Amino acid sequence: MHIVVVPGTNRAGSLSSMLAKLALADYAALGHSTDLLELALGPEFLEPEAYKKPKPAVTALVDRFLAADGVVFVVPEYNGSYPGVLKLFIDMLPYPQGFDRRPCAFIGLSAGGFQALRAVEHLQGVAGYRNAFVYPNRVFIGESHKQFDAANRLVDARLAERVRNQAVGFVQFIAALKTR
Ligand SMILES: Cc1cc2nc3c(=O)[nH]c(=O)nc-3n(C[C@H](O)[C@H](O)[C@H](O)COP(=O)(O)O)c2cc1C
Repeated sequence: MHIVVVPGTNRAGSLSSMLAKLALADYAALGHSTDLLELALGPEFLEPEAYKKPKPAVTALVDRFLAADGVVFVVPEYNGSYPGVLKLFIDMLPYPQGFDRRPCAFIGLSAGGFQALRAVEHLQGVAGYRNAFVYPNRVFIGESHKQFDAANRLVDARLAERVRNQAVGFVQFIAALKTR
């Protein structure tokens, strides 16, 4: 299976990006091909013509998303929602094939105690509206600045296990959908 992991921000030094790399490693360890789709959106994404006539820089990122058997969003909470840069990327996905019947899983990360619940649920709302197959087992993590050690691993072994378990369950979910 081909799993695309999307860190939901382009912020330099993002902890979501760090977490996305850990999640990606779990899928790789399970024997799946992986792609870390960093939202390094250039100015081409802001061009008014980008929706109808996307430049190659836009198409290249969009095509990587479309190649996914399953997409894992690692979503930081920004101002009580998910980051604008992620919505801009989503708005460049072709309709309906961007999300339609595409399995999606969600991990939320926030500095505060709400553990990115709103961010994930807002994003789930968009994915669900676009007919994604939403994997119901989500992972929520708060107090982001306390969660990583010097080697960029999760400090709490139970959290690391939750991320790993989500990977195991998500690939089973995708496989079950493929047999239908
Ligand atoms: C623009 C911006 C807005 C943020 N808004 C919130 C917020 O509403 N609630 C919260 O708990 N943390 C908020 N944070 C903190 C992030 O959730 C925190 O940095 C976390 O580590 C995940 O984001 P990161 O991937 O950028 O590190 C915000 C951070 C930024 C940069």
